[in-house]
Amino acid sequence: MELSKENKKIALLVGITGQDGSFLAELLLEKGYIVHGIIRRSATFNTQNIDHIFDKLHLHHGDITDSMNIFNIISKVRPCEIYNLSAMSHVKVSHDIENYTFQTNTLGVLTILQSVKNLGMEKTCKIYQASTSEQFGNTSDGSVILNEESPQRPVSVYGISKMAAEHLCNMYRDAYGMFVVNSLLFNHESPRRGGTFVTQKIARYVGKANFSKPLQLGNLNATRDWGHSRDYVYGIWLMLQKDKPDNYVLATGETHSVREFVELAFEEIGIKIEWCGSGIDEVGINSLTGETLVQVNKKYYRDIDIECLIGDASKAKRELGWEPKITFKELVSEMVISAKLF
Ligand code: NAP
Ligand code: GDD
Repeated sequence: MELSKENKKIALLVGITGQDGSFLAELLLEKGYIVHGIIRRSATFNTQNIDHIFDKLHLHHGDITDSMNIFNIISKVRPCEIYNLSAMSHVKVSHDIENYTFQTNTLGVLTILQSVKNLGMEKTCKIYQASTSEQFGNTSDGSVILNEESPQRPVSVYGISKMAAEHLCNMYRDAYGMFVVNSLLFNHESPRRGGTFVTQKIARYVGKANFSKPLQLGNLNATRDWGHSRDYVYGIWLMLQKDKPDNYVLATGETHSVREFVELAFEEIGIKIEWCGSGIDEVGINSLTGETLVQVNKKYYRDIDIECLIGDASKAKRELGWEPKITFKELVSEMVISAKLF
């Protein structure tokens, strides 16, 4: 049922141009929300993920590191739900731009919290903050499935910046009675994933099928709990529909290695990969022709990596009725097929 204009909920999405922001914007429009979003001024177009819904959105230029700008936008829009999906979200890059990572991922979150409080919107505006499985660090070798209570020992600047933001959110919830939700999101991907994350890097290489140079990868043995962004934004929305705020893990409960992702992606185009050698000398070859398709390149190694991530989303299932629907195999297949058209 279409809501009248006066009854429509107003949402503000920070990070609307990203993978999750774009899927969430679609979902909120379907649900009858008035959707506002903050986009950064860019020398080249950065709206490809939202071009198909561009005319339905209310967009504002802004940057989470500019506190006055964020305060002014919140003051003008007066949203009842703020979803903060903005971040300097690349783990390896966070070690090159450490201060900026904190300004965006930690101080930016503080700016949203302060603005809502200082505008007297504590009881009218719910806030969602995207926390991350990166906060767990190397606390599981696969034998422990990580949940909301698991210890957090982040090993990256990105992970530490997000953990600090989570603490700020918890403190604002406890101290000022604000509705603030953190969710520890395990990795989630889609055809809208940025090209420098490993899944999209593999999918685009395989999808384009231009094998003039082998695909260069780093740690092939790292495993991740990979879900689909579309499933995760639905869980995110459910969290803000509750009467009481809480923190939730979203995960699939399965973990797969980068190596498995490579194998499945090539299978999608009928190529079987065989692995030869070890460490930096390992290569992936076409088992039929012997052509080298994958090489290890130490440029993509991290100073410190998380070797295994696997999450337990049973609290989200129990309290939100949330479950991931798209399987790992379906995810890989969708990404490779979409990459053919990229
Ligand atoms: P993404 O594709 O990298 O999108 C990040 C968004 O943040 C983009 O819209 C980006 O704008 C915006 N942004 C970056 N810096 C900003 C700044 N200074 N001011 C305003 N906007 C800024 O990330 P995602 O995969 O959609 O992830 C969404 C959120 O979930 C992020 O906070 C991420 O850290 C978190 N998370 C993601 C995963 C995952 O596996 N995807 C897992 C756990 C947590 P531009 O388009 O202009 O760059
Ligand atoms: N990016 C990248 N590029 N990673 C590679 C490569 C490569 O060429 N080769 C191997 N990897 C390995 C990384 O070392 C890591 O172990 C794994 O692939 C996944 O790397 P990313 O795809 O960059 O994702 P991430 O797990 O570091 O971070 C993502 O997930 C987090 C949740 O756990 C991001 O989306 C973060 O924003 C998110 O919080």
